[in-house]
Amino acid sequence: MCGIFAYLNFLTPKTRKEIADILIQGLERMEYRGYDSAGIAIDAGEEPNKPHDSVFLFRKTGKVATLAQCLEKDSAHLDMTASYAIHCGIAHTRWATHGSPKDLNSHPQRSNETSDFLVVHNGIITNYREIKEYLLKKGHRFESETDTEVIAKLIQHIHDRYPDFSFRQLVEIVIQQLEGAFALAFKSRKFPGQLVATRRGSPLLVGIKTNNGRLTFDQFPVSFSKGHGWQWRDDSRIEKDGSLGKRSKNSSTSRRFTSTTATHLRDHDESFCGTPTVLDLSIGAAPSNGDCASPMSSIRPFGSSAWEVEYFVASDASAIVEHTKQVRGEKMSTTMMRRALDYLDLTSIDWLPTSHTRVLYLEDDDVAFVENGALSIHRIKRGLSEKDKTLPTREVQEINMELQQIMMGNFQTYMQKEIFEQTESVVNTMRGRVLPSGEVVLGGIKEFVPDIKRCRRLIMVACGTSYNSAIACRQIIEELTELPVVLELASDFLDRETPIFRDDVSIFISQSGETADTLGALRYCKQHGALVIGVTNTVGSSICRESHCGIHINAGPEIGVASTKAYTSQMLSLLMLALVLSEDRKSAEARRADIIDALNKLSGHISEILKLDSEVKEIAKEIFKEKSLLVMGRGFNFATCLEGALKIKELSYMHCEGIMSGELKHGPLAMVDEHLAIVMVICKDNVYKKSLNALQQVLARGGRPIIIADSSVPADDLAGMPHVLRVPMTVDCVQNILTVIPLQLLSYHIADLNGLNVDRPRNLAKSVTVE
Ligand code: F6R
Repeated sequence: MCGIFAYLNFLTPKTRKEIADILIQGLERMEYRGYDSAGIAIDAGEEPNKPHDSVFLFRKTGKVATLAQCLEKDSAHLDMTASYAIHCGIAHTRWATHGSPKDLNSHPQRSNETSDFLVVHNGIITNYREIKEYLLKKGHRFESETDTEVIAKLIQHIHDRYPDFSFRQLVEIVIQQLEGAFALAFKSRKFPGQLVATRRGSPLLVGIKTNNGRLTFDQFPVSFSKGHGWQWRDDSRIEKDGSLGKRSKNSSTSRRFTSTTATHLRDHDESFCGTPTVLDLSIGAAPSNGDCASPMSSIRPFGSSAWEVEYFVASDASAIVEHTKQVRGEKMSTTMMRRALDYLDLTSIDWLPTSHTRVLYLEDDDVAFVENGALSIHRIKRGLSEKDKTLPTREVQEINMELQQIMMGNFQTYMQKEIFEQTESVVNTMRGRVLPSGEVVLGGIKEFVPDIKRCRRLIMVACGTSYNSAIACRQIIEELTELPVVLELASDFLDRETPIFRDDVSIFISQSGETADTLGALRYCKQHGALVIGVTNTVGSSICRESHCGIHINAGPEIGVASTKAYTSQMLSLLMLALVLSEDRKSAEARRADIIDALNKLSGHISEILKLDSEVKEIAKEIFKEKSLLVMGRGFNFATCLEGALKIKELSYMHCEGIMSGELKHGPLAMVDEHLAIVMVICKDNVYKKSLNALQQVLARGGRPIIIADSSVPADDLAGMPHVLRVPMTVDCVQNILTVIPLQLLSYHIADLNGLNVDRPRNLAKSVTVE
């Protein structure tokens, strides 16, 4: 998860310094989205708005504060008091996915040394390797390890060949070539004072601040652009006369592409005569022609003079609130914001601003374009039908939210937010990896797969929650790979000086990628000649750097100390590893297909479970004062019991144990009576009957357990239970991703009801860098 910010002022003069400050402030507000590096791009030429003027691109590894500090020194050659009437700047705060955090991998990414085109990106381009190969053949040289750089190079490539195309048209062509998820903002030295932004799968909004008028509409119409047939796979499809697009039989789409925006705006201006005394801003419209199926629309004033406007493009509204406040909010009363700022080392804010500027949320494949101070929104449409005559619109809304509310959404804590984010984080973990064809691809280990398959044994090493993810996946890895799998707690592994062989494959799982014990174990295995695979959430972390190859879990930054979304993404990553290692096993085909089907349904299933939240809270109210709690289960769900118990221990400081229910009669049963709080996980899997036996043993001793069961467990088998939390039924080895979520919610509510700091439990740190 990264943060995108762009700012364009039109006839609202700003000095270079003011523009840089606005960009930096926007990034600071979004730093919670990612914070391993940051960058900005602003104009640097002596004559503002000259096409051949240069761009000042400034990128730094580290937090936004580091960027801000270094900026002052590194921009000493620029006159920061120079004023621009019209200027476009773009900025980015990064949470690395492709390429470690370093200056060259930071955004904006550039198309060439003179930064003709610059782009900031949030998301993952899954087909970047193919595009990169194509561009390398065409003579482009790459300087970063990012997927984003292909976007900058691709737009340059198309511009070089077709210099007449407008900035918007170039972006429209580029995004048609991209697969994956993205939100993008572009700046170009060739198109000064213009801004293009677009999205697919990642959020993006446009803020509109008017300085001498009001926006008087709630709906903003979208224009259709004609689709372009150009493809990087086959650029012979560009027509000889320079127009883009394959001619089709359909008359409306076979029209030659013409650059319409400028013409429209000119026509449009002329259609209004005189300058009205009241500057009510309205949506202008001009008759359709060229590539537009619907009236071309843009935000314009009545009368084109004295139109002062500022546009903001951002990944979320937190970046915009700062610049749009008209009244000062209440003095901050909660400690929440301070806590968030502490985490991120941001400067403190004493006041929570309230905004009155209006925003427009872009939808997938919308292209927002600002030229001559006018905003227009476009969508590509190939082949227009009768129903296309209904204009799609985008709502223009006020933001009257506090910054805190935007950063946290409607959640009270980061942990709660991260539990609820799991519907998205699991999709991000699988993006570009679990393919519609049923194939599973893990780019980071691809070249090592044959070596891994030949190994003597797989050793998974981790601590805490990350270790539990290894327990959760051991069975399926053994089943699909037919390799022996050994699990090791990193600290114990080192204490024992465990024998390691050259033909061992060692897997190190760590959210932070910095855990000292895990890192120590990694170095030990490396010294002994084993292949080392890192599974982390932090690109560029020590574990990442020191591994031979790895899997990035892509869960996005996890701020709450208790790991939640990283746990489910770790399990998914290990599951994908098992699928990759078994791709050529004929006998496992049906099993693999079932698992992949379950993965495709996973996000929807998680949404279902999150609806249990209030029911879980009611249960928490009954047990939050207990001294002790046992969580029992077996098979694939044993890991869920351990992880649930760990969450409850660390958040609420209550004694809680995860118990393998097969072990009950070997000791723990002695503790069971009518007073002991118990949670049991029972699913219709290969240990179902045994799980029911364990339930009977508990009931016979007066226990009244809370049950977490999948939807296929017959109600009769659970008759008389005080609480049954039902989760959707899925494949056994995916079921434990679902059963852990009610326990994450339970731990959250127990701690919250006890008035404890859920995001920062006592005595614990997010990254344990000491042994
Ligand atoms: C518990 C938790 C810890 C970590 C452990 C390892 O919620 O977060 O148990 O899992 O400290 O940390 P990483 O995964 O960063 O190596």
